[in-house]
Amino acid sequence: MKILITGANRGIGLEMVKIAVSKQWQVKACCRNPHVADKLTEVARMSGGLVSVHTLDVTDKAQIQALAYELRGEIIDILINNAGVYGSMSHQFNNIDERDWIETFKVNTIAPLNMAEAFVENIALSKKKMIATVSSKMGSISDNTSGGSYIYRSTKTALNAVVKSMSIDLASKGICCVLLHPGWVKTEMGGPHAEISTRESVNQIFNTLESATINDSGSFFDIDGSLIAW
Ligand SMILES: NC(=O)c1ccc[n+]([C@@H]2O[C@H](COP(=O)([O-])OP(=O)(O)OC[C@H]3O[C@@H](n4cnc5c(N)ncnc54)[C@H](OP(=O)(O)O)[C@@H]3O)[C@@H](O)[C@H]2O)c1
Repeated sequence: MKILITGANRGIGLEMVKIAVSKQWQVKACCRNPHVADKLTEVARMSGGLVSVHTLDVTDKAQIQALAYELRGEIIDILINNAGVYGSMSHQFNNIDERDWIETFKVNTIAPLNMAEAFVENIALSKKKMIATVSSKMGSISDNTSGGSYIYRSTKTALNAVVKSMSIDLASKGICCVLLHPGWVKTEMGGPHAEISTRESVNQIFNTLESATINDSGSFFDIDGSLIAW
């Protein structure tokens, strides 16, 4: 399998690279600052050529286009849009940082579409033909019983709408577009009190991705492979 992952230098993205290598998959691992991504560069160095590291800030369209040009004609089985931000903690009623909201929107919502547009032909060349985007249950309107988190929730809800449309628009190319909730995971974003390790999360995510087919396109998967209501 040949995959491309954004935000691969830490957290869930870094674990995806490690587990992909253990499966002998080829990985294009993207991150903003490879020169300070020590853990990722070490995994790449030890991977026997399976992992290549690429500079990519997902909000920088010129960088996305440059990478797409560099990788033109190469097969990508699964594009994994993993990079994401929570936004500032000023996100409660009467306390919203609008500038931060827009920046969070660029990373969580707009970038995955820009990535899909840039790499769609690479994905179409593959057998698997999949775009997997890491969303969050916090973007589910049905699941929202605790309120707050206006910035993160709304950017992920909008992301879900983007991927649903992509699943319809790319059906004619046979490309399967899915959304994933990774669980509540011990990372910088999830914090130390989260429920599961990155390893547990990524093992489950890869099980879902390996078994998903075009018939699953447009689905929003929970960590156990069940469907999350919008
Ligand atoms: N952890 C959880 O409990 C949880 C739950 C639900 C959903 N998620 C989702 O899972 C995904 C991964 O989260 P995580 O927990 O691994 O978070 P994390 O540890 O905070 O890692 C976030 C990753 O995204 C990258 N990133 C942020 N902005 C970027 C940009 N503009 N361009 C490229 N990369 C960028 C970060 O790179 P830098 O190091 O350069 O900042 C980092 O690699 C996110 O989409 C998140 O919303 C996480």
